[in-house]
Amino acid sequence: MRRKVTVVGAGMTGGTMAQRLAETGYVDVVLHDIIEGLPQGKALDLAESGPVAGFDARVTGTNDWRDTTGSEVVVITSGVPRKPGMTREELLNTNAGIVRDVAGKAAEHSPEAVLIIFANPMDAMCHVALETTGLPKQRVVGQGGMLDSTRYRTFIAWEAGCSVEDVHAVVLGGHTEATMVPILSTAMVGGVPLTSLLPGERIEAIVQRTKNGGAEVVSLLKSGSAFYAPAAATVEMVESILLDKKRILPCCAYLDGEYGIRGAFVGVPVKLGAKGIEAVYEAPLAKDELEGLRRAAGAVQELVGLVN
Ligand code: 2OP
Repeated sequence: MRRKVTVVGAGMTGGTMAQRLAETGYVDVVLHDIIEGLPQGKALDLAESGPVAGFDARVTGTNDWRDTTGSEVVVITSGVPRKPGMTREELLNTNAGIVRDVAGKAAEHSPEAVLIIFANPMDAMCHVALETTGLPKQRVVGQGGMLDSTRYRTFIAWEAGCSVEDVHAVVLGGHTEATMVPILSTAMVGGVPLTSLLPGERIEAIVQRTKNGGAEVVSLLKSGSAFYAPAAATVEMVESILLDKKRILPCCAYLDGEYGIRGAFVGVPVKLGAKGIEAVYEAPLAKDELEGLRRAAGAVQELVGLVN
């Protein structure tokens, strides 16, 4: 019997995640959506790729929460994406209602699952999911830092003219343009500090492009938001949990005193394993970076205060 993962929301992001998960070969995937036919159609299509893609995973498309029962990880992608010119924050109350509903049902059917929250504004939606489900804080984790970091690493590699594999850099803080904190003090390219590799103005351009990364894709697509990088980033988190790999990854976690922050979901380095968030690491950051994390905490708390 393979491990069971549910992806809630069968849009482009959910569908792409389901594909990546099925292709790992060791996961059975349940794709859930409220739209009748959509998850069933995508699941059938995906399952039919198995013989050529080389996987035996069972892929189930459903509108019935009972099919999600016993999932080890549930990824919540549901919610409306932003339109060109919109901020993630503008989605607050529409998506809060959706996340409240789906997180509650997901936890009811899979009470031992780790929930990965991807709906926007992601940091605030983590608060909604934690409050609704009453799950331990270790089992509600937000996906934002992984995505922002993979964008940051891509732009650094392009600018440095080197392989993406040699870029080690993270984005912490919030998953909004205003609260994202691309970390410079520890960014390395093959062991060479980023700050000694590129001139300051090129680094600043990379930082700005990273912060605007989601909006740049939205403005090109005109309808919908990014899904390839989000799916790849999320699957790395799922794998670390399912395989108990204990990767140390930039994810959104509920802080309880770390970095001097209490009672807020903020992107920080965490250890992801079978139990979910198994440790939160307090990296030594530059003063302005630490201030950025604290501003992100204040901003998410303010946003949560606006949830109806
Ligand atoms: C992004 O940054 C959708 O928030 C997501 O692309």
